[in-house]
Amino acid sequence: PTTRNYNWTVSEIEAAPDGILRTLIVIDGQFPGPLVECNEGDTIVIDVYNGATNSTSFHWHGQYQNGTNWMDGTTGVTNCPIPPGKSFRYKFTVREQWGTYWYHAHFSTSRIDGLFGPFIIHSPKENIQSDTDRIVMVHDYYHNLSAALLPRYLASDNENDEPVPDGALINGMGVCSTCEPFSGKLATFDLNKGKTHRLRFINVGAFAEFDVEIDQHELSLVEVDGVVVEPYSLHRFRINVAQRYSLILYANQPADSYWLRARMIAHCFADIPEDLKPEVLGIVRYKYTSNEGLPTTKGWGEAMELECKDLNTSEIVPAIVMSAPEPDVLLYLRSNFEIGAYRLSRGFFNKTSWRPAEVPTLVQAVDGLTKANRSFSSEGILPAYDINRQMVYRIDGIKTVDLLIDNFDDGNHPFHLHGYKFWVLGQGRGYFDKSTYATLNTTNPLRRDTVTIEAYGWILIRFVADNPGMWAFHCHIAWHVEAGMLMQFLTQPDIVASWQVPEDVRGCCAHPEDQRGGGI
Ligand code: C2O
Ligand code: CU
Repeated sequence: PTTRNYNWTVSEIEAAPDGILRTLIVIDGQFPGPLVECNEGDTIVIDVYNGATNSTSFHWHGQYQNGTNWMDGTTGVTNCPIPPGKSFRYKFTVREQWGTYWYHAHFSTSRIDGLFGPFIIHSPKENIQSDTDRIVMVHDYYHNLSAALLPRYLASDNENDEPVPDGALINGMGVCSTCEPFSGKLATFDLNKGKTHRLRFINVGAFAEFDVEIDQHELSLVEVDGVVVEPYSLHRFRINVAQRYSLILYANQPADSYWLRARMIAHCFADIPEDLKPEVLGIVRYKYTSNEGLPTTKGWGEAMELECKDLNTSEIVPAIVMSAPEPDVLLYLRSNFEIGAYRLSRGFFNKTSWRPAEVPTLVQAVDGLTKANRSFSSEGILPAYDINRQMVYRIDGIKTVDLLIDNFDDGNHPFHLHGYKFWVLGQGRGYFDKSTYATLNTTNPLRRDTVTIEAYGWILIRFVADNPGMWAFHCHIAWHVEAGMLMQFLTQPDIVASWQVPEDVRGCCAHPEDQRGGGI
């Protein structure tokens, strides 16, 4: 193991990734952000200087942060944001995980303005064979800063009115709908003939789920959110916001170049603007040819899945067998959007809608527990309760927790749990049939960290709450989390109570005027 040092400067730039000039917020002038790459066991040190005009904070999506909860970077939960003109050092060790991850700002919606990038962890335990290794970030894209779009979305009388993307990009490249076809840059992957290539897909977008395919190539799925799986072959796959899939492409087809097609599932948006091009193209080339011919290949032509749901992973089997133990706790959650006070449409888990706390709830928990604050009683498992209208669900000891969520909303949501992977025991439309509870497959079901709940559907996930800390659980749609669709788990509070949160972490909280997100 070694220490890997990164030195980042966040700033605003003017750039035109798809041919239209806009302001992006970026790391070291790059869009998307730089690659973070390490071996399992390494310590990562990232010094961030915030040279932008708004606060920022970085979250390492899917990292366990075991023992370094305060490096999770979640504004209002584990951290205060880094104010403009200030620096902060993230430092943590990557343990017992490998594969495809990513990082992104966790301050309001600013991640979608350019503050995201891939985070790849290598390990001999991963055991995936390929000749090359590539990253393919797919994302929806807006021509405006998210801070300009958010207030209208959060204003009164705007139910179901998420800002609709202006287009889509692959690795930050694409062509805007009114731009000259192919005048922009398309993401191009030179994948030598006769070789096998690992393509690590990450949906780094704000809102849109994608269908992805590569003309004439059958793909072999080998990794899901950092979990190696038995190879599973498919022609097309669906990837929701924050999910990752590694696929092996074997370059054994006759032509020299092929289209990579990533299509936003636009019919799942409330309205589809007429000029929206939901598909973004990339190019897969077996060999570089100077005559720059574009591919002439056709898509698979199979019927599109019309429903707005997850890739069906019920047949996907993790290569390292881990069966789910019997649950100790069943927590029932209901997710929805509701119009409440001031005719604001807010996202809810049960009766709570999140707003980032000024003092991160982790710090509240540490202080509260050590000072025997009454809102953090140390009696057994409490029902959900509120701290400043947010839900913190407390789990004492190491318990196996079932989360059964019913979605009463007409949209789907990619739900993400910080600090853990969970087993996906089931997901579907309508209501969970409780009579099947005892017969669910608990023998090595898929584990992952981001799962889609269908519109008016349900999911049942299970995790062993053995990683102490304050962990966010939220919809990963940038707009929805800012509308309040976030709750928190406080796990092993007795350990949390013994923590000394480092002074420089708390120090960031000394600039309250700079801290608040775009929320109301
Ligand atoms: Cu990928 Cu709470 O984040
Ligand atoms: Cu959502």
